Amino acid sequence: MPKLYIETVGCQMNMLDSELVVASLRNEGYELTASAADADTILFNTCSVRQHAEDKIYSALGRLKHAKREHPHTVIGVLGCMAQKDQGLIFKRAPYVDLVVGPGQLHQVPALVREARRERVQRMEVSLGRTDGSRDQIERSHESFDPMRDPSMRPTPYQAFVRIMIGCDKFCTYCIVPSVRGPEQSRPPAAILAEARQLAGEGCLEITLLGQTVNSYKYRAGERIWHLCDLLDVLHGIDGIERIKFVTNYPKDMTNDLLAAVRDLPKCSKYLHVPAQSGSNAVLQRMKRGYTVEEYRDMLARTYETIPDVAVTSDLIVGFCGEDDEDFQQTVNLVRESRFKNSFIFKYSERPGTKGAERYVDDVPEELKRRRNNALLALQNQISEEDNDAFLGREVMVLVEGPSKAAEKNGQVQRAGSSPTPDEVSLMQLTGRTHCDRIAVFEGNRRQIGQFLPVVIYDANAHTLFGEIVTQHVGPELFGLPLPLAGIGGKKKSE
Ligand code: 5AD
Ligand code: SF4
Repeated sequence: MPKLYIETVGCQMNMLDSELVVASLRNEGYELTASAADADTILFNTCSVRQHAEDKIYSALGRLKHAKREHPHTVIGVLGCMAQKDQGLIFKRAPYVDLVVGPGQLHQVPALVREARRERVQRMEVSLGRTDGSRDQIERSHESFDPMRDPSMRPTPYQAFVRIMIGCDKFCTYCIVPSVRGPEQSRPPAAILAEARQLAGEGCLEITLLGQTVNSYKYRAGERIWHLCDLLDVLHGIDGIERIKFVTNYPKDMTNDLLAAVRDLPKCSKYLHVPAQSGSNAVLQRMKRGYTVEEYRDMLARTYETIPDVAVTSDLIVGFCGEDDEDFQQTVNLVRESRFKNSFIFKYSERPGTKGAERYVDDVPEELKRRRNNALLALQNQISEEDNDAFLGREVMVLVEGPSKAAEKNGQVQRAGSSPTPDEVSLMQLTGRTHCDRIAVFEGNRRQIGQFLPVVIYDANAHTLFGEIVTQHVGPELFGLPLPLAGIGGKKKSE
């Protein structure tokens, strides 16, 4: 059986793309291997959002130079955003690469791998650039590739990503995504529903709808225009799907209808990722984000007012071109008052081909970017910890996803094909997420993976809630006795 090794970097969209590429190659008889040295085909699904992600891929490719000389039949492919962005440059920098395939051409991977193996010629399949044709031609050259699912490539068998849109038309000046992932296109609701039903049939409990600007979803079917809130409504009716999330939201498209849908549909996770990017109007304008910080604040106020228990998360870029101390201070102020559950904070990385690179000088020194990054992270961590502390003593519903990272490291996890050791049948540390997307860690049994369970929280840090599964037994409350409070409410030292 031919063996496939695949490495994925970047966002959830890339994780989903890799799942689909693996499914299409499994269909051709491939099996997955965890080691590149064993593989007949080595694929990298790449990211271009920051320079660092690209550097990592180029150095991984560099390490394959000798392997390819010794095993010339091994097919090496570079897929995804960096393939679309760098195209023939990849063959120049790593001449032993066989395939370069953009994110809009992934359906061609099985045929391309076959050809590369047979004919030993280099092949490149990429989509049209944003100025290489009419809107229609460019749209058609970015093909969404969704029907084939592979449960074994998912984060867990109980959770799946479902793409509802591809591409982006917002053209924020720092961002390479609109160039490499092409024009914004929404998938037909019928295709999304069919896929969600199939996933539910396979035992999937939680779906995360994906789009670069997921709340800009808009699909015309005859007279009717579908928005994200309409999709949520129908997905909510699918038996078996118990939790629905969606990422990433564009602040300007956070409509009252959508907020009301999240509030009213119990299966909708009370969690919204709505990147602010900056707290300074001057910077937001240079970023061409399309809103002011006052508009972002209003959106956030509407969100907290409509869904009082919602957790909001954000992305922030520090050190964008021309960001001075005052601009940065405004971002600090925004973070301080917004009470994000957590924020992903990035140092600006200039991307050739973007308007940002063309128009502005990347003039904030690396050291200053690093200092601002650390300062903002420290503030966010303090807020996250304070907000997590509010969960002490509370009971939350958790979807148990699997062994915690610590349990995996300690070898408590059963390897495929081997029979369970006594350790594995007994208690282990498990992890899962609450309905507002907080990570919870608790002791439990392997049988409990894939269940929704009540967990009482007794400790917290900025990133994790620590708890105990609430076991159902005849408790003292039934006899009119006071509840024992040991371990609940008191703050134990975190690990
Ligand atoms: N430099 C730094 N961060 C970036 N992001 C996108 N482009 C860049 C860039 N050039 C960040 C944004 C976006 C997240 C996915 O990555 O914050 O929301
Ligand atoms: Fe990039 Fe802006 Fe589109 Fe997000 S909305 S993918 S940051 S261009």
